[in-house]
Amino acid sequence: MGLRGGDIKGGRLIYAIDSGSGRWRGEMSERGPTEGFGAWYDEKQGDTGDPWHRTLIDPGLFSLLGTIEPGTWILDVGCGNGYLSRRLAREGARVVGVDRARELIERARAREASDPLGITYHERDAAHLDGLESGTFQVAIANMSLMDIEDAQGAIREIARVVADGGRFVFSMSHPCFDVDNRSTWDIEVAGGPGNPPVVFRKITNYRNPHSERYTWKLGEGQTVITTGYHRSLEFYAHALREAGWVIVDMVEPRPLPEFVGIRIQREWIEGIPLHLVIEARREPRGLPGARLNSAPRD
Ligand SMILES: C[S@@+](CC[C@H](N)C(=O)[O-])C[C@H]1O[C@@H](n2cnc3c(N)ncnc32)[C@H](O)[C@@H]1O
Repeated sequence: MGLRGGDIKGGRLIYAIDSGSGRWRGEMSERGPTEGFGAWYDEKQGDTGDPWHRTLIDPGLFSLLGTIEPGTWILDVGCGNGYLSRRLAREGARVVGVDRARELIERARAREASDPLGITYHERDAAHLDGLESGTFQVAIANMSLMDIEDAQGAIREIARVVADGGRFVFSMSHPCFDVDNRSTWDIEVAGGPGNPPVVFRKITNYRNPHSERYTWKLGEGQTVITTGYHRSLEFYAHALREAGWVIVDMVEPRPLPEFVGIRIQREWIEGIPLHLVIEARREPRGLPGARLNSAPRD
């Protein structure tokens, strides 16, 4: 996070601040991120997730996931370097991880090879889970990946196919209402003059229109990668879930843990305005009328 600018306008001091919400927007190329991105992301997430995941996003995800019974079959969609797959496997789950990025799947497999937990990883597009049998999993998770997946509606359908009747889908994502890629930011306004407390606003635009956003990441000296993320409204996700036979049963807007305070000054602000959303949905038994959409959500 960094201050992007400070200006005095009409007696108010206005700062626009990069949101830095810990998201990574999905890669552009067919095969996955440019060489080097996988290594960078693997190092960033390590075996426990980076501070944003550990102290903000994952606690929200696990609050809905609850206790995992040993032996539970879990699919980790957009598993990245597999750190969450590994956490779940250590808790006794039988885990399969899928990700479109070959470099990340290779990293995840390397971690599995050096410390085997019985996880299998597949290089797959989430909207085409070829080779995974229907009704196999009791739980599917997607941690910060759905907004990076180009065909999110296809992925939501495909995940419904491979999850058993009554099974669950628990996923986190950038909050569609408050973290709209480059089109959202914090604004701090100090009205009046010295001594007045600053007021923090979250400013967003272009919420309703689905759109993609390109991002340039500087990995190191002279090394950049362009990635893409996809903004869709809350309505899009609700409709896509319903159309695929999911029923939303719960929702959490993660709050930072106390440890978060040392990491970013945004803690207080995120207490007031969440940057992430976790949704828990249940798979309706097949044969029940699931699709109630008059028209398919636009993307
Ligand atoms: C922000 S990363 C999150 C990774 C991991 N779940 C984590 O929490 O560290 C988003 C992931 O989604 C993956 N992804 C993007 N598009 C995908 C697609 N169409 N199918 C499967 N995975 C995809 C990316 O390769 C990346 O690993």
